[in-house]
Amino acid sequence: MKKKNLLNILFIFLLVLISLVSIYGWIKNSFIFELLGDKEININVNEKYEESGYKVVFLGSDYTHNVEVENNVNFNKIGEYEVKYRFKNWFVDKTIVRKVIVKDNEAPVISLNGNNKITIKVGENYTEPGVNALDNYDGDITTSVKIEGSVNTEKTGDYEIVYKVVDSSGNETSITRTVIVEEKYTGGYGIIVPGPTYINGILIVNKKYSLPSTYGGTDSTALSALKELQSAGQKEGFSLQLVSGYRSYETQKRIYNNYVNRWGIEYTDTTSARPGHSEHQTGLAFDVGELTSNYGETKEGIWLKNNCYKYGFIIRYLKGKENITGYSYEPWHIRYVGVEVATEIMQKNITLEEYLGV
Ligand code: DAL
Ligand code: ZN
Repeated sequence: MKKKNLLNILFIFLLVLISLVSIYGWIKNSFIFELLGDKEININVNEKYEESGYKVVFLGSDYTHNVEVENNVNFNKIGEYEVKYRFKNWFVDKTIVRKVIVKDNEAPVISLNGNNKITIKVGENYTEPGVNALDNYDGDITTSVKIEGSVNTEKTGDYEIVYKVVDSSGNETSITRTVIVEEKYTGGYGIIVPGPTYINGILIVNKKYSLPSTYGGTDSTALSALKELQSAGQKEGFSLQLVSGYRSYETQKRIYNNYVNRWGIEYTDTTSARPGHSEHQTGLAFDVGELTSNYGETKEGIWLKNNCYKYGFIIRYLKGKENITGYSYEPWHIRYVGVEVATEIMQKNITLEEYLGV
C-alpha cells in the first residue's frame, strides 16, 4: 500500500514537471523577437548608420524596451560590422545579429588643370597641364592617375587624352581632354599683320598679311619669268593668255566691291581678296588662261600646273587647301617665288603658307 502511494506521488510529480517544462517552453516560444529591416545592410562610407529597429512581443504586449543593443559600427571606416541585439528575462536569453557593411562606392573626382579643349598650331609644343584626383576615402590620389593617348603636334587633328584613376575600393573615374592641332594659318580675316611681310626673303600676302595702299607696281623679274613660261607653253600649243597681272590697291578695291554688290561678302571673300590683301598688288601674281575651275582639268591647265615651277611659279590656291589659303581653287592664279622655292613647293604639293610655316 505504501509502495503504491509512493508511485502515485512520483507519477503526479512527473506530470507536474512535464507540465511546467511545457509551460516554460510555451512561454519561451511566445516571445517573438525579430529585427525590422534587412539582416544585412550596406552603407556608403561616411554615411551615418541608421538603426532600422527591432521588436519583442509577448502575447500582444510589447517588450522591445528590454532589448540591449551593442553597436560598434564605424561608418567612417570601410569594413564589416555586427550590431548585436540581446533580449533577456527569466525565460529567454537570445541574441540576434545584424551585419553592417561599410563600403566606398563613390568614385574619385578628377579635375583638369587648364581647359578641356586646348588648341595649338602645327609644330607648337603641347605641354601636359596635368590633373588633380581626389577621392572621398583615399584623399589625394593624383599620383595614381594614368594618362592614355598622345598628341602628334606635327599633324592636324583632334587628339584625345584620357586620364584614369582607380581608388582603393576599385571605383574608377576617367575624364577626357581634347587637344586640337590646327593649321598655322586658317585662311580667315582674323588678326591682320600690316606689311609688307617677308619670311625667308619671300613676300607673303594673304588674309592675314596685308599690304599698305601705297604699295605696289609691276615686277620685272616676275614679268620676264612669265614671258619665258608663256613661250614654253606656246611651243606646246598653249596660249597661256594673261588675263590679269599687277593690280593697284584701288583697282582691287573696285573689283572686290563689285563682287560684294553682286554676290555678298561671304561668297566674295572665298574668291576675291580685300584691298590690301591681294597678291596682284605685289606684281608677282598673274591670272592666265581661263578663270574657271575647269581650267585645271584642261590640257593647258594641266601643263601649267606641271611646268610653272621651272619658271619660278606656283599654283597659289590649291584644291583641298582652301582652309589654309582662304580661297577657292584657282588653277589660273600663279605666283612668282623663284625656281628653287617653286620646285620645293610644287614637289610637296603644299601651299605658300605651309612652306613658310605661317
Ligand atoms: N583671286 C585672288 C584671291 C585675289 O583676288 O587676289
Ligand atoms: Zn589672281
